[in-house]
Amino acid sequence: MTTPDNQQWEYAVDALRRSREVVVFTGAGISAESGIATFRDDDGFWRRFPPEEFANWSGLMKTAATQPRRFGDFLLAILEPIAHAEPNAGHQAIAELEQHVNVSIITQNIDGLHQSAGSTAVKEVHGTLFETVDLRTNRFRNLLSRDEVKQVVEDIRRAMTGSLAAARLMMAVSPLFGLDLKGGHRPNLVLFGDAMAEPAWSQSVEATKACDTFIAVGTSGEVFPAASLPFEAQSSGATVITVDPVESGTGFWLRGTAGEVLPRIVADAFGQAN
Ligand code: APR
Repeated sequence: MTTPDNQQWEYAVDALRRSREVVVFTGAGISAESGIATFRDDDGFWRRFPPEEFANWSGLMKTAATQPRRFGDFLLAILEPIAHAEPNAGHQAIAELEQHVNVSIITQNIDGLHQSAGSTAVKEVHGTLFETVDLRTNRFRNLLSRDEVKQVVEDIRRAMTGSLAAARLMMAVSPLFGLDLKGGHRPNLVLFGDAMAEPAWSQSVEATKACDTFIAVGTSGEVFPAASLPFEAQSSGATVITVDPVESGTGFWLRGTAGEVLPRIVADAFGQAN
């Protein structure tokens, strides 16, 4: 396991120990050790499913109508890992942090793993897979459990065996995407071109401006406006720490994975996890 540069490490531990308000800002990298692919790494999700086709609603609906099997493959690739994922040591360390200091978690992820690890103050700025909203009004429609997403995955697999009837696929995905008497619903996700999820985004900007320590974990910093938060924190006087195997972002870089670094830095700052 790589160990971060000692001086950086000591400074980060000391900053965390002295903090009153901490923000933890997470991207796909924190869920990599839970078996969910990141977007831009070599084996990243967007390499298999180009964002221009799959990361916007019009492209997604066009693929669903014209290439149902490719739409089914995309859904399986995104839903299956999330349906079977468990929080990893990184998620658990962040949940543990809440025992020691006021923590706001701002996540770009839609996998619900911070909540599954026991974190309570989670702002999902790119939405969540576990809610649907009305197609027309964007208002909340329904909650889904991880088990219900597992069932959708099984139903999609069944619909895709043999001659794929687009209708059978749409039936399988109906808990997530569907037209019904009330008009229709979709997952509560923020795709490219959509407005950020509210009030999560406004609360995230507020928490970022007010924190003493801002820890960015597992994000490439390529997608704005979320990627502006570490710089917002720095200009508001916070200590910024970046946890990533690859040097990225700003502030103190602690080289390593979320599952390696976070449990150690929480233990060093506040004593062994209970
Ligand atoms: N622990 C910590 N970081 C990791 C790990 C790990 N085990 N594995 C990979 N990383 C890092 C990578 O080095 C990279 O910096 O996680 C980051 C993942 O970057 P992206 O794949 O770009 O994911 P993210 O930054 O979350 O993407 C932001 O882009 O496509 C949109 O809406 C999507 O929310 C997403 C946004």
